[in-house]
Amino acid sequence: MKNGIDEISSAFHFPNLSTINLDGYPTSRTVVLRGVNYESKVISFNTDIRSNKWLELKKNKNASIHIYDFKKKTQVILLCSAFLNYNNKNWDEAWGSTKNMSKECYATPYKPSSIIDNPKNIDININNLKNKELDKYKVNFGRVDLYIKSIDWLYLLHSGHRRAQFNYKKQTEMNWLAP
Ligand SMILES: Cc1cc2nc3c(=O)[nH]c(=O)nc-3n(C[C@H](O)[C@H](O)[C@H](O)COP(=O)(O)O)c2cc1C
Repeated sequence: MKNGIDEISSAFHFPNLSTINLDGYPTSRTVVLRGVNYESKVISFNTDIRSNKWLELKKNKNASIHIYDFKKKTQVILLCSAFLNYNNKNWDEAWGSTKNMSKECYATPYKPSSIIDNPKNIDININNLKNKELDKYKVNFGRVDLYIKSIDWLYLLHSGHRRAQFNYKKQTEMNWLAP
């Protein structure tokens, strides 16, 4: 997963995040993997705090990550508990290491998922932005840490697939599972 932060051709760069939406349905979308902390078993991504996923995680911190890497013939499913960073040190550092191009995403006056009259309004807003102004849009930026509770790992093999589960309680538990 650590390699997935910088390897943009890797499926691990683009995890699918699932949350429970406000109507009770599981809902999934792609995010970009921005951080992996091996010791504390935390992975992180950035998002707009006006987005559904942020509001959903605020209400229900249970989340799941799904990744299938075709080249590595490997699927991983993580069950996680989300911590929403805002106005704290992690949030400052995450904004500080965000490229201007990505910061522009937070400059839109339109709340993600809101109905807009014309998609071109988005381009007009981006074209009018000046890099030095970008910091004022930090207010829309959020950093999500996902604390991994368990990993379901599946490796596809002609001679017999391999599947294992890792549970992170006080002590790490690992069991082979029937694929
Ligand atoms: C390749 C790719 C990467 C994306 N990365 C992010 C991301 O890091 N953070 C994010 O909030 N949305 C990201 N998105 C957009 C989300 O998948 C989603 O469409 C959007 O955030 C609205 O999601 P929501 O309404 O469920 O909150 C990405 C989409 C794609 C296709």
